[in-house]
Amino acid sequence: MPKATEREKLLEVEHIKVQFGKKSKPFVAVKDVSFSIYQGETFGLVGESGSGKTTIGRAVIRANPLAAGEIRFAGQRISGRLTKEQDQQVTQDIQMIFQDPMDSLNERAKVGYIVAEGLYAPGRHYTEEQRRELVAKALSDVGLLPEFASRFPHEFSGGQRQRIGIARALILNPKFIVADEPISALDVSIRAQVLNLLAGLQKERGLTYLFIAHDLSVVRFICDRIAVIHRGQIVELAGSEQLFAHPLHPYTQALLSAIPQPDPITERKKKLLVYDPACHDYTTDAPTWQEVEPGHFVYGNTKELDGYRKAVQA
Ligand SMILES: Nc1ncnc2c1ncn2[C@@H]1O[C@H](COP(=O)(O)OP(=O)(O)OP(=O)(O)O)[C@@H](O)[C@H]1O
Ligand SMILES: [Mg+2]
Repeated sequence: MPKATEREKLLEVEHIKVQFGKKSKPFVAVKDVSFSIYQGETFGLVGESGSGKTTIGRAVIRANPLAAGEIRFAGQRISGRLTKEQDQQVTQDIQMIFQDPMDSLNERAKVGYIVAEGLYAPGRHYTEEQRRELVAKALSDVGLLPEFASRFPHEFSGGQRQRIGIARALILNPKFIVADEPISALDVSIRAQVLNLLAGLQKERGLTYLFIAHDLSVVRFICDRIAVIHRGQIVELAGSEQLFAHPLHPYTQALLSAIPQPDPITERKKKLLVYDPACHDYTTDAPTWQEVEPGHFVYGNTKELDGYRKAVQA
């Protein structure tokens, strides 16, 4: 397989800022975030609750407007105003799977309608028969029976509902999927099934994923690269193995120290690191986003970045 750096960049997020509330007194949920996702990879975005992960995912599907910056997909700008044709194309190419399958499905609609909804979008003309066939295919692609189309969401378990959410995302045959904590609300016993389903679909269809998660242990084995976000700012980005081998930013180190160890003795002896944002002195030396070794980016001021560079060479 070619190295990530030689592959095509499918999604490019450049210096984006997302804010909410009044223009005069905005709350900046995403400060200045940049990353690229290569064709066919799974890119993890990890951080604590409220750090801005969903906000970034929603910016990618164009549900959150940008206050600054730009997002490009397959080389074309998709943020800001688009023509009707571009808009339809991007809607088809980029889909999202949501965190809570209990909340994200319309309870009053039948599964068939929920899954088919994308087919009713403007500019799409399907016959009733075509829609039924596409729904049946989407359901069977995610391991559900086509008959389920005539039932209601409440008749299904959490795992099945998440499969319905995935079928809905797949029906337009997208290239890119934002998976926003797709397994966090599920029972531990069925998490692996949903992860395997996503991995299988990726392999079959060459899908590219932005995979959002709370903790690093979930993304370690499924993501090619991982970005760590803290309070609206990505603080570190590296290949999964690289990040686990050489976590540089103190917030990443704290997140890693929180992962439970399988060995009870190591677990008991483990020192839990606490991240204190006040450890950075950014008053005279402002932080920037820099590549400290190939493919490994960290957010820090000149002094911190020097330290990170030395740490990776050591
Ligand atoms: N529509 C909105 N209006 C106002 N504030 C919002 C809106 N959406 C998100 N926020 C705020 O932006 C910040 C980031 O929220 P976001 O949902 O992106 O966090 P998250 O990292 O996805 O958290 P979680 O892990 O809990 O899902 C939070 O402080 C949140 O309250
Ligand atoms: Mg979220």
